[in-house]
Amino acid sequence: MRKKVIIIGASGHGKVVADIIQKSGDILLGFLDDNKSLPDQLSGIPILGTVNDYKKYSQAKFIIAIGNAEIRERISKEVKTDSWYTAIHPNAVISKLDTRIDQGTVVMANAVINPGAVIGKHCIINTGAIVEHDNTIEDYVHVSVGAKLAGNVHVGRKTWVGIGATVKNNVSVCEDCMIGAGAVVINNIVEKGTYIGIPARIV
Ligand SMILES: CC(C)(COP(=O)(O)OP(=O)(O)OC[C@H]1O[C@@H](n2cnc3c(N)ncnc32)[C@H](O)[C@@H]1OP(=O)(O)O)[C@@H](O)C(=O)NCCC(=O)NCCS
Repeated sequence: MRKKVIIIGASGHGKVVADIIQKSGDILLGFLDDNKSLPDQLSGIPILGTVNDYKKYSQAKFIIAIGNAEIRERISKEVKTDSWYTAIHPNAVISKLDTRIDQGTVVMANAVINPGAVIGKHCIINTGAIVEHDNTIEDYVHVSVGAKLAGNVHVGRKTWVGIGATVKNNVSVCEDCMIGAGAVVINNIVEKGTYIGIPARIV
């Protein structure tokens, strides 16, 4: 049966999530967003109200389309529902061998998720990202556009892997890190912080 879906977060990222929902054949009802200066629609899709208005839509499933992991986590706790939508673009390549993708996560076009990869709640696996075999991606992680995680990589909660970044096989990145655009991570990261460059170093 076609699901009715509401996106929390009316932004550019929200539009990409909207496109996935429409391509998946589910019914997109609209956006919720606390920014009251927004118009009443985005790309022709209605903005239905603020986040708290989720209570009016008991039949709907929800997905949070907000890049900031702290805000994504906060909203996932404030919105009291078990009805989270997992958005998978029809052109994402996802192995059926021992993969798991938890609720509220979005997987965008041309992303690849290979066997044994386990992806937590409310993650973003962005356009063209590669999550290789046996990765463990914890809740609220964002793997940005074109980032590459080799085999057996572990990424801790709320870490953001920037656009085009690369993480070598068997490397672990702890929680709450920012891996800068184009960085190459070749050693385990055990200290929270921002890492840039090749090889990636803390700033
Ligand atoms: C790493 C990052 C978070 C730093 O942002 P910031 O704190 O605003 O840092 P600034 O832009 O002020 O740059 C500080 C210094 O770091 C350098 N720097 C910033 N990002 C860098 C990167 N990714 N690689 C190499 N150097 C970088 C800047 O050139 C600057 O150097 P300088 O002091 O010699 O002039 C940001 O640049 C970044 O890479 N973000 C990734 C965004 C992304 O992936 N978006 C995709 C969404 S799908």
